[in-house]
Amino acid sequence: MTRPRIVVTRKIPEAAVEILREAGDVWSPEPDRQLPVEDLHRAAEGADAIVSTLQDPIDAGLADAAGARLKVVSTVAVGYDNIDVPALTDRGVVVTNTPGVLTDATADLAFGLLLAVTRRLGEGERLLRAREPWSFQLGFMLGSGLQGKTLGIVGLGQIGQATARRARAFGMDIVYSGRRRAPEDVERELRATHVDGDELLRTADIVSLHCPLTPQTRHLIDADALAAMKSSAYLINTTRGPVVDEGALAEALANGVIAGAGLDVFEHEPDVHPGLLELDNVALAPHLGSATAETRTAMAVLAARNAAAVLAGDEPLTPVKG
Ligand code: DGY
Repeated sequence: MTRPRIVVTRKIPEAAVEILREAGDVWSPEPDRQLPVEDLHRAAEGADAIVSTLQDPIDAGLADAAGARLKVVSTVAVGYDNIDVPALTDRGVVVTNTPGVLTDATADLAFGLLLAVTRRLGEGERLLRAREPWSFQLGFMLGSGLQGKTLGIVGLGQIGQATARRARAFGMDIVYSGRRRAPEDVERELRATHVDGDELLRTADIVSLHCPLTPQTRHLIDADALAAMKSSAYLINTTRGPVVDEGALAEALANGVIAGAGLDVFEHEPDVHPGLLELDNVALAPHLGSATAETRTAMAVLAARNAAAVLAGDEPLTPVKG
């Protein structure tokens, strides 16, 4: 019997490669690089499994290029807005992702950005690195405190909850919005109040985005939403760039419509709106939410286990529901 062909689109930790090698013959680009679509399609030919990342467009074209043997696409990410799930499930291909294992790392980064922008850490560091004169003064580089402030969480899923838990430890109050109401015990633990999106924007001192990118959430934060926020409020985005209209955000930040933003994700990665790069009231990170050695290994191992399970005819651990 021929061994399954497993295509791994980017370099992943060795612990995960070992799991995949037990399950089949592993191919990945050498040297490691983001494959352009034509190369990705060529590489996918005859694959039984594809282990992909959030940068790979996974759609009907890729499934057709892979052919009838394709059984599973396992993305090393929790977000799967790059995957046309129905196009794959219609062809009987299982789709899996990696929820859970990156929750804490991503919530840590959301909170890191929140602190960075409210306490002006990037601005302070830039001042020192520019060797600008400075001295301690009571009114120098004042930021905004968190205690008693309200954090508005858009999407109280696992990462939203973990971010809220951190905020509670900083003495913040929690409101949240989202299609689904969180279970009662979660609301009780976090003392989180469900409000509609408009109320959240109007009342939160900090708005943190944790909803997935879907057609409904694309540009959820546009010029109108930004205008609805307090002029003293901050926006934190660690989910997906296109949830925010980046041009509108750059304008709002430049014109004092809101006080600041902490951004880990961008509308057209790896590009960043040039307006944002000019501003001091924004803390920027290059999509580092899950970027700890421990978390990235856990993500890749989970993705490898998912692919191996499907190839063995078993249920995957974390399937995406079609
Ligand atoms: C994800 O998993 O969706 C993050 O954006 C990257 O870890």
